[in-house]
Formats: sequence, structure tokens, C-alpha cells
Amino acid sequence: MTTDVKEEATEIADEQKEKSFFARGALLGLFGGALAAILLISVGGSVVSLLDDVWGSGEEAAAPADDLTGEDLLIETGRNLATTNGCIGCHSTNGLDGTGPTWQGLAATVDDDYLIRAIIDPNAEIAAGFEPDVMPNTYVDTLTTEDVDALVAYIKSL
Ligand code: HEC
Repeated sequence: MTTDVKEEATEIADEQKEKSFFARGALLGLFGGALAAILLISVGGSVVSLLDDVWGSGEEAAAPADDLTGEDLLIETGRNLATTNGCIGCHSTNGLDGTGPTWQGLAATVDDDYLIRAIIDPNAEIAAGFEPDVMPNTYVDTLTTEDVDALVAYIKSL
């Protein structure tokens, strides 16, 4: 009888040890998982900011368009159009010329009409130091008047 009680007591004690062992294991697992997630996020974040430093032209990440109104919305639309239409493959916004002249500061030297013409009829006037027939002359067909307005607003914001 006494042995039975003892045995039972040992069994219960063992069981409790096991339980606390598992509980600790689970906790450690959780903790480790959270740590790994934090690490991943911070490493990912610094890689992204590193890439941004290397290639970024100092542009802000695109703000969600639904929060914007008026001129801000027009500029944001223009920024997106410059990407989707491949303009930024030739035009930078950081002051460095590429295949085409940089857009930074351009609006200070020309008016809206010049910018519109430069987009829809690129050979009408050739920017100094650049060649004709490099910029596609197809935007007149593929962009709407609203698109061109948005692009002009964006270029003027730089
Ligand atoms: C394949 C390269 C290329 C692409 C793509 C391109 N451009 Fe150009 N762009 C040029 C070159 C080269 C010039 C300079 C020659 C000229 O004036 O046509 C130029 C000139 C301009 C100018 C006048 C710049 C100045 O300093 O006078 C504007 C404005 C312009 N592009 C806007 C755009 C827009 C908007 C898009 C996209 C819808 C675009 N470009 C796409 C190459 C490109």
C-alpha cells in the first residue's frame, strides 16, 4: 500500500517534470521563432534600404494614391506613369543625366508647353547635348491628355 502511494507520487512528479519540460520547450520555440522573425525583418529592412541607397534616386516610396487629392494626386499619378511607361529608364530625378536629360530642375528652365511637346513630339526640340530619335515618339498615341498632364505635374515637382 505504501509502495503504491510512493509509486503514484513519483509518477505524478515525473509527469509534472515532463509537463514543465514541454512547456519550457514550447516557450523556447516561441521565443526562438519571434527572434528569428525579428532578425529576418531587420535584415530584410536593411537590405531594402541598402538597395535603395545604391539605386534609389532619392525618390520617396509611392504613397497610397487614395490618401491624396488635387495636385498631390496628379503628381503621384505622374510618378507612377513615369515608371509604367519606362521614362525613368532614360530620365533620372537625381540630377544625373542618363540616356536622356535628368528631370531634376528642368521645370525651372522651361514652361508647360515645352514639357508637353517634349513628351508627345520628342524631335520637335532636342535638348542640348542629346540626340534626336532616341526618345520614343509613340507617347502621343499611348498616353491620354490626362496622362501627359500628370507627367508634366510630376516633372515640375522635381
Ligand atoms: C529611350 C530613352 C527615353 C525614354 C524611354 C524616354 N525619354 Fe524623354 N528623352 C530622351 C532623350 C534622349 C531626350 C533628349 C532628346 C530630346 O530632346 O528629344 C529626351 C527628352 C525629354 C524631355 C525634355 C528634356 C529636356 O531637358 O529638355 C522630356 C520632358 C522627356 N524626355 C520626357 C519623357 C517622358 C515623360 C517619358 C515617358 C513617357 C520619356 N521622356 C521617355 C530619352 C527617353
